[in-house]
Amino acid sequence: MCGIVAYIGNQEAYPILIKGLRRLEYRGYDSAGICLLGENLNIYKCKGKVSDLETFAKGKDIVGTIGIGHTRWATHGEPNDLNAHPHYSGNEKLAIIHNGIIENYDSLKKELIQRGHEFKSDTDTEVLIHLIEDVQENENLPLAEAVRVALTQVVGAYAIAVLDKSDTNVIIGAKKGSPMVVGIGKDEFFLASDATPIVEYTKEVVYLEDEQIVELRRGQGVKVRSIENEVLTPYIHELEMHLETLEKGGYEHFMLKEIFEQPKSIADSMRGRYHIDSGTVSLGGIIDYEQKMANAKRIIIVACGTSWHAGLVGEYLIEDLARIPVEVEYASEFRYRNPIIGEDDVVIAISQSGETADTLAALELAKSKGATIIGVCNVVGSTISRITDAGSYTHAGPEIGVASTKAFTSQVTVLFLMAMRLAHKRGSIPESRFQQLLAALEKIPAKVEEALQSADLVKYIAGQYKDAHNFLYLGRGYNFPVALEGALKLKEISYIHAEGYPAAEMKHGPIALIDEEMPVVVIATKKGSYDKVISNIQEVKARKGKIIAVVTKGDTTAAELADHVLEIPETEEELVPILASIPLQLLSYYIAVMRGCNVDQPRNLAKSVTVE
Ligand code: AGP
Ligand code: GLU
Repeated sequence: MCGIVAYIGNQEAYPILIKGLRRLEYRGYDSAGICLLGENLNIYKCKGKVSDLETFAKGKDIVGTIGIGHTRWATHGEPNDLNAHPHYSGNEKLAIIHNGIIENYDSLKKELIQRGHEFKSDTDTEVLIHLIEDVQENENLPLAEAVRVALTQVVGAYAIAVLDKSDTNVIIGAKKGSPMVVGIGKDEFFLASDATPIVEYTKEVVYLEDEQIVELRRGQGVKVRSIENEVLTPYIHELEMHLETLEKGGYEHFMLKEIFEQPKSIADSMRGRYHIDSGTVSLGGIIDYEQKMANAKRIIIVACGTSWHAGLVGEYLIEDLARIPVEVEYASEFRYRNPIIGEDDVVIAISQSGETADTLAALELAKSKGATIIGVCNVVGSTISRITDAGSYTHAGPEIGVASTKAFTSQVTVLFLMAMRLAHKRGSIPESRFQQLLAALEKIPAKVEEALQSADLVKYIAGQYKDAHNFLYLGRGYNFPVALEGALKLKEISYIHAEGYPAAEMKHGPIALIDEEMPVVVIATKKGSYDKVISNIQEVKARKGKIIAVVTKGDTTAAELADHVLEIPETEEELVPILASIPLQLLSYYIAVMRGCNVDQPRNLAKSVTVE
């Protein structure tokens, strides 16, 4: 998600920053900007690509041997020229770039407004630079110290770089939760989100740890302090990587990178929204509408493709926990079938891109009939997120692979939080169960990490079945949508025909397809309808089908019946879809790679379907 690059040395900063931003493009972004410190502190920034920024900066004053550059992936405020980074402080003497989210920006902003600060953008980042300025001026502190003191007041995630017009010899960096690497060259320093912009200049790097502040001053060594003001000795690493391997963060494909990013993307979806101490859930974006949602006669979820599958999980969750009737509709069908819908209905649209034409049209129809419309989108500032009455972003970060992976698990995470919030409001589940589920949610990112450890085994299984012509995916209850999503993933990127079915439906038709050639992926996790799924496995076995079972760690019953077993850690039934999706994503990925398919850009598919 987004990129940061900074330079201080003897060379002109501008070309180094632009090249650095290009190297960071793979991370995905919506706008770009730079700030150069020469005679003036000049900021150039715009919505769009790095090439748009270059066009914009052409002919302008781009002189300076110190500068910072940023590619933004909007979280607070639309992607536009104004919200793009860098941001000035109020007195325009400081400039900042930031990657991450300042969670308490709203309360900080209110305090700063009371003290006379005025803001130009909608970003949380601008609040931070005003806070640094405020501390600097009130306490008369040097920049590094002002940054440190300001950060003690911040809740959230950040990687920042700050310039000060009155000191042309220094860049201050700091990080927590977002990555930051310092490059040490000969009489020059670099700062970046990862080593890609640095590796062609130097191999010596320092990886900053959370809550560390770095001072890069001409003619001096790298100075690192903790946020508690303890002086630390930086450890200098030797970069062993080559430029080529870095471009997708070291992964062969964006899809694989995104699969492996899930412990973090899910944590980002949850961040600031569940509170273990108070035992509560809060979704700031829907706060004004949650009463309406809790009172709704029914909730209708509209979406397409993978987002529709997330919607099915949402149906099970909301009905199960909040006891509100839910219908899940393909947006394309809903919009054309004259649906009965009115003011007591709440329509939730789920969309990674926030631009899907069918979903958008379904929402507009619902809105015209007076329904309340809520969004669950990943792309901030997208059309759907703008037209909805309220919503909760998934915050999964940019998803570049056309086949959706991390966006799906983040959608399910947000729907789980929504169902929990509504359940609490309606008192529809016992408090003890609520707390149990909350505790289980907290452990999910670590359990996803554990599930990812089966990658080598999945790869081996992929090798066994890569030439199959058909696949069947079976699941029941919460795992039925997981089966649908597993099948869609395989279809999309490997072009193998695959069907997802509720396991019990198999005997009403698809069982006719089963023979020794047919791999059947069964999600047979403990709890729910486990025993019934075991019977379904027996039915497949009796017809010589090959079983690939996704089971709860330590399960021996399913393991004995299956040809291959993929274990996932134990969790509450309501959260199993997140974990069970991981091996299925990996399976489709490895099969597609082995078949020589273009995994990131499968034939005929687009990342955002903006046409009917
Ligand atoms: C996912 O792998 C697909 N490429 C596709 O089904 C996608 O989920 C669908 O087009 C909906 O997109 P959205 O989430 O951006 O609305
Ligand atoms: N939260 C900041 C913004 O919305 C930074 C986003 C990013 O990481 O690019 O501007």
